[in-house]
Amino acid sequence: MSDKANDKVNVFLVDDTPENLGLLSGILRAAGYTVRMADSGRRALAMIESLLPELVMLDITMPEMDGFEVCRELKSKPSTSGIPVIFISALSDPLDKVKAFKTGGVDYVTKPFDADEVLARVETQIRLDRLRREMEAKNRELARLDELKNRFVGIAAHDLRTPLTALIGYSEVILEPGPADQARDHDMVKRIQRAAFFMLRLVNDLLDLSAIEAGSIRLDLAPTDLREILRSSVELHGTLAAPKRIAVELQDDAGPLLARVDEVKLEQVLGNLVGNAIKFSAPGTRVRVSLRRDGDWARFAVEDQGPGVPAHELERMFEPFQTTSVKSTAGEKSTGLGLAIVKKIVVAHGGEVRAESVVGRGTTFHFSLPLDPSRPNG
Ligand SMILES: Nc1ncnc2c1ncn2[C@@H]1O[C@H](COP(=O)(O)OP(=O)(O)OP(=O)(O)O)[C@@H](O)[C@H]1O
Ligand SMILES: [Mg+2]
Repeated sequence: MSDKANDKVNVFLVDDTPENLGLLSGILRAAGYTVRMADSGRRALAMIESLLPELVMLDITMPEMDGFEVCRELKSKPSTSGIPVIFISALSDPLDKVKAFKTGGVDYVTKPFDADEVLARVETQIRLDRLRREMEAKNRELARLDELKNRFVGIAAHDLRTPLTALIGYSEVILEPGPADQARDHDMVKRIQRAAFFMLRLVNDLLDLSAIEAGSIRLDLAPTDLREILRSSVELHGTLAAPKRIAVELQDDAGPLLARVDEVKLEQVLGNLVGNAIKFSAPGTRVRVSLRRDGDWARFAVEDQGPGVPAHELERMFEPFQTTSVKSTAGEKSTGLGLAIVKKIVVAHGGEVRAESVVGRGTTFHFSLPLDPSRPNG
C-alpha cells in the first residue's frame, strides 16, 4: 500500500505507556495512516464509538481495564463488533496469545516493535476486513436476487398452472367421443387461444423483468413521434375496453412530439398503464390519456375513475409481484409485474413515473420522458 492509499484509513491505538503510543503512531503515520489514540480502555471505548476506526491496536496489560476486557466490550456491540483488533503484547506467555484470539483479536504485535512487521500485520488485517465486508455485501445482494428468483419461479409455476389446466380441459372437450359440434369446438379453440396468449404474456413479462433485474435492459432508441405511439395505443385499448363499456379518451394538442425512445418498450409502458386503468375500473367509467410538452419533457398521464389506491399502498405497486387491495373488476388476471416493468423502462429512458390516487375518485399515473433536444418539437 502506498502512503496515499492509507490516507484516510483510521487506526486507533490504546496503550497506557505514552512511549508505545508515540512509537506505534510514528510508524503508522509515516505509512500514511490517520491515527487516534487513548491511554486507557475507558477513554478508548468512548472515542471509538464516536468515530469508528478501521482497525484497533490494543495493549493487553493496562491498569483498571485490561485489553481483553476492552476487546470483549468492542465485540459485544453491533457498531464495533466488526472492527479488527490487533493486540499489543510484551508477554511471551503463549497462553495470553491464545486468550487474545479467543477474545476476538485477529493478530498481535510484540514489543519491541519492528516497523515493517507492524505495518505488514496492520495492512493484512485491513485488507482482510475489507474483503470480508465486500463479501458480506455481495452475499446480501445474492440473497436478495435468490429470493426474487424463488418468487419468480413460484409465481410463474402457480400462474401458469391455471391456463395450462384450462388448455387440457378445453382440448379434452374437443376430443370427447360423440357427434361433431363445430360451434362448440370453435368456442373451445377460442378459449385455448386466450389461455395461450395469457401464458405468453406472463412468460414475456417474466423474461423482461429477469433481464431487467440482471441489469441488461437494452433500449433500441430511435427518434419517435410520441403522439403517434400514444394514438395507436389508445385506439387498441379503446377496442379492448369496449366490452366493459369503458371509454378511453385521448387528450393531446396536435403536432408531433419527438423523442429518442424504444418504441416497443414505450408501447409496453402505455399498454400496462392503460391496461391497468381499464382492468381496475368499473364498467361505464372513462379513462383519459394525455400528453403535453413541458420544456424539454414530454409528460404523459393516464387517469381513471376507478376505486383509487390507498396512500400507503402507492409505492408498493411498483415492486415486482406486488398487488394492492384493489382487485380487477371483471376477473382479469393480476400478477403484479406490470408496474415494476413500467418503472424500469421509464427510468432506463431517463424519465420518471409516479402515481397519484384518491380513494373513491380514481388514480392517475404520470410519467415523463426527456424530449430529443436536437429536433424541433411542436
Ligand atoms: N389504475 C389503477 N387503479 C387501481 N389500482 C391499480 C391501478 N394500477 C395498478 N393498481 C394496483 O397495483 C397493482 C400492481 O399493478 P401491476 O400493473 O404491477 O400488476 P397487475 O396489473 O396486477 O398485473 P400485471 O400487470 O402483471 O398483469 C395492481 O394489482 C393493483 O392492485
Ligand atoms: Mg398491470
